[in-house]
Order: sequence, then structure tokens, then C-alpha cells
Amino acid sequence: MKSYFITTPIYYVNANPHLGHAYTTIVADSLARFHRLMGKSTFFLTGTDEHGDKIVQAAEKQGQSPQEFVDTISGRFQALWLSLGIANNRFVRTTDAEHKLTVQAFLQKVYDAGDIYFGEFGGHYCYGCERFYTEKELENGLCPQHLTRPEFISEKNYFFRMSKYLPWLREHIQANPDFIRPERYRNEVLAMLESGGLEDLCISRPKSRLTWGIELPFDSDYVCYVWFDALLNYISALGWPNGEEYLQFWPGEHLVAKDILKPHAVFWPTMLKAAGLPLYSHLNVHGYWLVRDTKMSKSLGNVVDPLQMGQSYGLDAFRYFLLREMHFGADASFSEESLVGRINADLANDLGNLFSRVLAMTAKYFGSLVPQGAAFDKDDTAICELCAVAMRNYAQLFSHVQFAQALESLWELVRALNKYVDSQAPWTLYKQGNMERLATVIHVLLTAMRKVAICLWPVMPEVSVRMLEQLGQSVSDGMPPVPALEVEMDDFAGLEPGLKIAATSNLFPRIEKKDKDVAADAARPKKEKDKSRKQSSSLSDTPAPEQKEQPDTVPPPIDFEHFKALDLRVGTVVTAEKHPNADRILRLEIDFGEGKLRQILSGLAEHFAPEEIVGRQVCAVLNLPPRKIRGLMSHGMVLTAQSGETLRLLTVSAPLPNGGEIA
Ligand code: MSP
Repeated sequence: MKSYFITTPIYYVNANPHLGHAYTTIVADSLARFHRLMGKSTFFLTGTDEHGDKIVQAAEKQGQSPQEFVDTISGRFQALWLSLGIANNRFVRTTDAEHKLTVQAFLQKVYDAGDIYFGEFGGHYCYGCERFYTEKELENGLCPQHLTRPEFISEKNYFFRMSKYLPWLREHIQANPDFIRPERYRNEVLAMLESGGLEDLCISRPKSRLTWGIELPFDSDYVCYVWFDALLNYISALGWPNGEEYLQFWPGEHLVAKDILKPHAVFWPTMLKAAGLPLYSHLNVHGYWLVRDTKMSKSLGNVVDPLQMGQSYGLDAFRYFLLREMHFGADASFSEESLVGRINADLANDLGNLFSRVLAMTAKYFGSLVPQGAAFDKDDTAICELCAVAMRNYAQLFSHVQFAQALESLWELVRALNKYVDSQAPWTLYKQGNMERLATVIHVLLTAMRKVAICLWPVMPEVSVRMLEQLGQSVSDGMPPVPALEVEMDDFAGLEPGLKIAATSNLFPRIEKKDKDVAADAARPKKEKDKSRKQSSSLSDTPAPEQKEQPDTVPPPIDFEHFKALDLRVGTVVTAEKHPNADRILRLEIDFGEGKLRQILSGLAEHFAPEEIVGRQVCAVLNLPPRKIRGLMSHGMVLTAQSGETLRLLTVSAPLPNGGEIA
């Protein structure tokens, strides 16, 4: 396949962009760059979703017309992508004239084919979600998302005969294991299809209720349901049905988070099938970025601003962190501490050090000219083989959206190269006057470093170009020559002897942890935050320490007094239940011998069923400031220990009276 088409969701314009939106867009950008590097013609699409009730309400709040409002927020998304160096080919808006025409043409096509019908329907309508809920889907009669009572509405509407295509969809998903990936989401969709809960899709809203939408071509009293409208951006932006880009790039692949699995995995393929269009090739579904195990939200004040992160830590380092830290498909927790940890360990210590050491040695021993290597010994051959394997795995994993594993595979090579420097000890060879062997070692290192720099271009485009320039490579159009990866994998060559390279390299100065961490900050009361903000010095004021230090993974020592200040106690869990408004959190009532039970919210729900915890003794910190989490107060923190995905409760070796002090 010589063409590659990748999309992000088109984002709602009722809120400003944050880390979650930036993650999906950065991943799509990296995928597009990766496929360009593989020599493919690529098209990368993102945009904004601008119709619906929510937009009208948000515009009213701002005292703006819907159009003025959507122009402003859509502009913010476009500006952010520009600042983050996102190289999308098009930015689509559902208020674009061409998009509206496409939606109408598509609706007409499906209507003419007999798959849209008019019918009466009564259902529980949640205005927040802009959709109907069935009795079964409600929780205690409330919308599961908003915890509000939906209004029962009975009205005439247009319906898409989605149910007709569900058996076919199930077969398609079963026959194509990669259609929805990773597997957990494929299974989720199959379970949805097998549950029998899916019906025909209501695709209209009467204008008496909503006017901010695309008019149905066959009935001017109705506008199109937002999802039917929004999903069509993926082909309207390519100029369906006859546009050159549509003919070249469709079908492509989509990238979304788990929140919008159903519309993409059920509505969209059945819509395409009904209109006789080819299906997308892959739906790539990722998890959620959480902050301290809690969803980001404006009211909690823990929304991470991607631009600020890029500015504080470097755009490419931030991109690397996002791709390396999240295991695609699973949720991940964001903290500046882990961001700094990765920058220091992987970038400054492993990659940055490799470049500074080897460039400095080449300057000292060969006047910064690439030396001519002699015959390889077994250590050189091993590096050469590892390089081929690492690159092949990297490319394979990257194209299967396993970015963390792909980068890990490349880092096996980076770490092996650092070990090779240590074991070959070029400084000793120099002292011994063994210049032929020294030349071979340096040649091997520089050759492998060039390969690493090329591989990293999709993830860290600017740094990759700097690395290549330091290695004397000419870079045109801000990227390595294409098709770089395929050609480079099996051929351990690429650096001309005699080529002038840079004498120094300072790619990633080690950085200190910032005083202020968004995640930690969100947990503190506002007054305290303001105070520490005034006191903290900005990151750029901190001088960059030497690159050779060990990674900053060991926390600094604390005074015994600080430890004594913690009120650590043993208590018995009396009640445990799921937080009504946060999937990962349990609401616990714990007896610490205080005369009344203490409520603590804890991110245990994915590891323990409530009934597993009741009656157990746990250890907790009691003198943390009370914290509101999704509407409920937490008065302390239950202690846990974690390794990988395994989480255990800290407890006592034998029962102890409640309130027992831990020291
Ligand atoms: N407008 C619809 C999508 C229509 S696509 C035809 C929509 N918009 S949204 O603004 O709510 O964006 C949802 C998407 O934003 C998620 O699917 C994901 O790509 C991204 N994220 C928003 N918050 C996120 C996290 N906390 N973590 C990771 N990504 C998340 O749904």
C-alpha cells in the first residue's frame, strides 16, 4: 500500500484543548511521519466538530452567536496544533460548506437506498449527551454520564436501519482481527453486538428543538444528528465521492480514545456499508490520560496544558514521553515527575550521553572526521545485528500502534551502544596507539547513531534533524531522505569516511524536577497553591547540570521531622462502594477509632471489588488536606504498593486496635 491516511477525532469546540486532545493529535502526527519515512504518500486529517445543542448553550453563555463562538474555539485548536508542530494536511470543520454538502449527499444516498425511514419514537433524552437512552441503559433512572434525569420525549424522527447491518458487522470484526485494535476494544464491541441491545439509530432532530445542525435533504423540518454529521468528516475532507484525495487515500485508519468507541466501531462501519463505501482499515483505540488516577476536569483544576508542557520541557521530549509512557490501549497517569524522570533517564542519560561522548571522542581522536573502519570483530558484528533487529522491531511495532514497545526496542540499541563504548574503551585504544581498532569502534558507533536518529524522526522530528545534522547529514524538507527506514534496516552503512561532523552535542540537558507539578498541585487547596507559585522559581532559571550524572530516580532524603509529621494510622474498612461518578475510585468508610467513621476515596476500583475490602485493616495517612473528588470529599489517603499493573493494599501482619499509630 503506497498511500496512508490517518485521522484524529474532530474535537468538540465547547471546551479548550488539553493534554488528551494533544495526545491523540501527536500520535496521529507521529504515525503520519512514520509512514512518510517508509516512503508512503500520507494524508493526516484533524478538525473540529461544531454542531449541536451544547455549542448553542456554550455560545449563549459567552454572549456570542454560535458561528462566532465556533470560529473562536476552532481557531484555538488550529493555533495549538501549529505551536505543537503538528503537520496535518487538512483541518476540517463540520461548519465548512463542502462538509455540509457531503453530509446531505450521503444522507440522500442512504435514504434513496431505503435505509432511512420515518417513525415515531419515545425515549429518555439526555440534553447533556444529546442522545436517547433506553430504559436498560439508565442507572436508577438517571443518565449514567451526567447523573441527571433524562426527559421522556416522544416525537417523529428519521431512523437509520443500523440493525440490518449488525450481523454483517459482527462477521466482519470476527474475520478481521486487526479491524479494531487493541484486542480489548475489539472484544468490547463484539460483546456490545452480542448483547442484542443495539437498535436502529435515530439520525434526526426536529428543528423545533435544535436548529444548529445540517438540514436533512429530504425534510427541511429536521437537522442531522451530530454523530451522523461528524463521522462523515473523514470522507468529506477528502472530497468524496469523486475527489482526487478520496480516490487516493480512502480507506484509511482512525485514531480515537475509548470514549467514542461505539460511534466509530458500530455507527460508522454500518453507515459506510449502507452507502456502499469501503470500510476503514483500522480503528486504533487508546486509553485515557489521568492525573493522579482522576479524570482531568476544569472543576478539579487538574487539566494539563500541553503547550505549557512543551514550552517548559521541550516539545520533542514531551512527545517522546507521551508515546513512551502510555501503553496504547490502557489508561496512563500523567505527572511532571514522571516526565522529568523519563527525560533524565532515557533522553539525557542514555541518548544524549551517547551523542556527547561519541562526538567528543571523534573530535579528540580524529579531528571530527568520520574515520575509515577496518574488519569487524564479533563485538562489532553483534552491534550491527542488534541494530538491524532493533530497527525491524521498531518499525513493526510502530505500524501496529505499539509505540511504547517500539521505543523500548530502539532503546535496547541505545543502551547497548553505551555499553559498547564502555567495553571497547576507546580511550585505552588511543593510549595504546591502536588507531585502526579505534577507528572501527568509532565508525560502528557513528553508523548506528545515524540509524537511531532516523528512526526517531516520527517521534522527535526536531531533535532527529539536529542529530542528523550533527552527524554531517544534509536534511531537506526538515526530514531524512525518503524512503529512509526500509532502505536503512538491512544495510549497516550510510556514513562516508572523511565526513566532517559536529564536535559537541548537547541534545537534552538534564533538568530538575519543577517545584510545581500539575498533578500534585491539583490536590492542594487554592490558597496554598497561590503562595507556592509566588515562591517557586521558573524552570528556565535553573542552570542545567552536567550530562554525565546518574538518572534522578532516587528521591532526595528528608528530615526525620518531616516523616514524623505524617499522621499514619491503622483502620478497619466498614463500608466500600464504587464512587457514583468515577469508575476507578472506591468510596470507603474507615474506622480509625475516632468515634466516627472517616470517608476516604481511593483509586482501588480496578483492583478490588468493594466486598473484598470491607472488614480489612488498612494503613492510611490522615493529616492530608481534605480533597474533593468528583463531588465527594476524601479525608486521607489509603496506602498501597504498586509494581507494574499489580496493586496491593498495605496492611498489618496481625489485627491491631483501630487508630494504631504507624511509625
Ligand atoms: N466530537 C467528538 C468526536 C467526533 S469524531 C467523528 C468528540 N470530541 S471530544 O472533543 O470529546 O474529543 C474526544 C477525544 O479527545 C477522545 O476520543 C481522545 O481522542 C481525546 N481525549 C480527550 N480526553 C482525553 C484523555 N483524558 N486522554 C486521552 N485522550 C482523550 O468526542
